[in-house]
Amino acid sequence: MTAKIIDGKTVAARVYTLVRTDIAARASRGLRPPALATVLIGNDPASEIYVRNKRAACQELGIRSLPIELSAATPQAQLLSEIDRLNSDSSVDGILVQLPLPGVLDSAAVIERIRPDKDVDGFHPYNVGRLAQRIPLLRPCTPAGVMVLLESIGEKFHGRQAVIVGASNIVGRPMALELLRAGAVVTITHRFTRDLRADIEKAEILVVAVGKPGLVKGDWIRPGATVIDVGINRMPDGRLVGDVEFEGTKERAAYLTPVPGGVGPMTVAMLMQNTLAAARLHDGPTERS
Ligand code: GUN
Repeated sequence: MTAKIIDGKTVAARVYTLVRTDIAARASRGLRPPALATVLIGNDPASEIYVRNKRAACQELGIRSLPIELSAATPQAQLLSEIDRLNSDSSVDGILVQLPLPGVLDSAAVIERIRPDKDVDGFHPYNVGRLAQRIPLLRPCTPAGVMVLLESIGEKFHGRQAVIVGASNIVGRPMALELLRAGAVVTITHRFTRDLRADIEKAEILVVAVGKPGLVKGDWIRPGATVIDVGINRMPDGRLVGDVEFEGTKERAAYLTPVPGGVGPMTVAMLMQNTLAAARLHDGPTERS
């Protein structure tokens, strides 16, 4: 079997079209464009690229972008008061603080300070709790994007064995909640998993989000599986690779995401969709449709 490659750029483009159309419809009803504040602290090169991509996507869709750059030496209290200012600014719909934070800054406290209705990353405990209780409001972007990719290939979820590698707050945990909500039987593996290969061999749907190049070997893949590789790793020669051995996996899987061009574009697309959703939450009751 040779896997079909899932083209994240094409699926993301469809999400962009929906968001763009909705923003135009809002404008024709006299509603302002959604507004997203992106907060970048310090100068981590990878974070700079991710934030640049998010700001460029805003520009492309007609979302108002408020770029905020703070030094790596910013004290926690100053960062929290910046968030308070954005929380109380009624012209701001979404607040994104790029992670990881440098130095001693406490990301859990920062995330909890963001108003849940402006938490377009979906990381606030309120939004994660809503997802856990099957009443999602703003959903974490990467797992939500993976669900859109899976739906794009007609993936079935009820009773299917889904295995997630990695238990991070950003991807692994909310991914488990998404797949559980869709009716899959979910296994989460992590650094203390005793026999990773044995768990992976059972997976009909495999999502890998660890950040270790080549962690998952091609001959571990269950024939016919759908494999979603969330890892993005820069190799010494400059190439970007995922967490899954691509060539070996392609021989066994039915579907496989590439790196780059798989999950990555979906994260930004879902952020744009969340920003639009947040703007809807902020429309007056008479404007809401
Ligand atoms: N760092 C890595 N992924 C993300 C993300 O989706 N959102 C934010 N804010 N930071 C990240």
